[in-house]
Amino acid sequence: MTHIKTAVFPVAGLGSRFLPITKAVPKEMLPLIDRPLISYAVEEAKSAGIEQLIFVSSPDKPMIEQYFQTNVKLENHLFQNRKTSKLRQVQLATLPDPFYKFVYQTSPRGLGHAVWTAREYLRDEPFAVILVDDFIHAKKPCLAQMIERHAFTGGNMVATMDVGPQEISAYGCLDYTEIEGNCLKASGMVEKPTPETAPSTQAVIGRYILQPSVLDELAKTKPGAGGEIQLTDAIAADCKNQQLWGLQFEGQRYDCGSKIGYLDAIMALALERADTAVAFRKVLQRQTQQNQNSRVRAAIAFGVY
Ligand code: UTP
Repeated sequence: MTHIKTAVFPVAGLGSRFLPITKAVPKEMLPLIDRPLISYAVEEAKSAGIEQLIFVSSPDKPMIEQYFQTNVKLENHLFQNRKTSKLRQVQLATLPDPFYKFVYQTSPRGLGHAVWTAREYLRDEPFAVILVDDFIHAKKPCLAQMIERHAFTGGNMVATMDVGPQEISAYGCLDYTEIEGNCLKASGMVEKPTPETAPSTQAVIGRYILQPSVLDELAKTKPGAGGEIQLTDAIAADCKNQQLWGLQFEGQRYDCGSKIGYLDAIMALALERADTAVAFRKVLQRQTQQNQNSRVRAAIAFGVY
């Protein structure tokens, strides 16, 4: 039993960095080998003891909802053909009805607006927010690490990692005053600061535990960076009501909202999974060799050798 029972998954964005595939396939449904990104996030929430999942989706992304529903025709086919382990995998991907809800953000007005769209389910208790495109590979799931710590700290909590001064302007940035172990006591947050104005190099990663008072702030939040209603701005405004904490989580984060981060995550999983590791290592060796050979050929052609 945990004190955080509900998790919100904002999945209504355009995924424009992955166009044209996201014209038809939601970014959250892009596969890491054989499961969509969203299923890793759901698994993280379940293993952290979350009891209710709220997906903030778009009416233009029906595939996300379909993925969690029973596919009777497919299950019958697998059953009749005695494909028991495949059937089990398909059934595991299905979520039981009372466990999840879908609400709809009809236009992508920003992450803050997406979270606010789920407000009818979030009135009384702190809740988690998970950004599906931040895939975090960790021994203990990142959200479980946060919940454990939040039981002592209370307030609002964000997951953070050090990204250095060059990269901080791509992130929400934590303004912290004290360090207590792996927990940063913060006085605010800024969305996408310039390297010169950034209060720290601690970037906010897509895991949050928020008090319902953040929803009141969201109701008042005007569009900020990028013309979107930013969750960061509402959390910063809520610092007058709640202590803000940053948890430096243990684990490897992959930014699957970017092409390189996405490829990096696939490679990490492929090199780790028992059914792919050995063969994939050979593929990598061959690719590296071919790449070296073509570099040497190019160097010879240009007279470098
Ligand atoms: P991102 O900014 O990474 O996603 O938001 P995006 O806007 O879909 O992608 P790009 O930048 O255009 O490539 C993080 C998460 O928040 C959701 C997205 O679906 C994504 O999972 N989101 C974002 C919403 O649900 N609604 C929004 O208005 C914005």
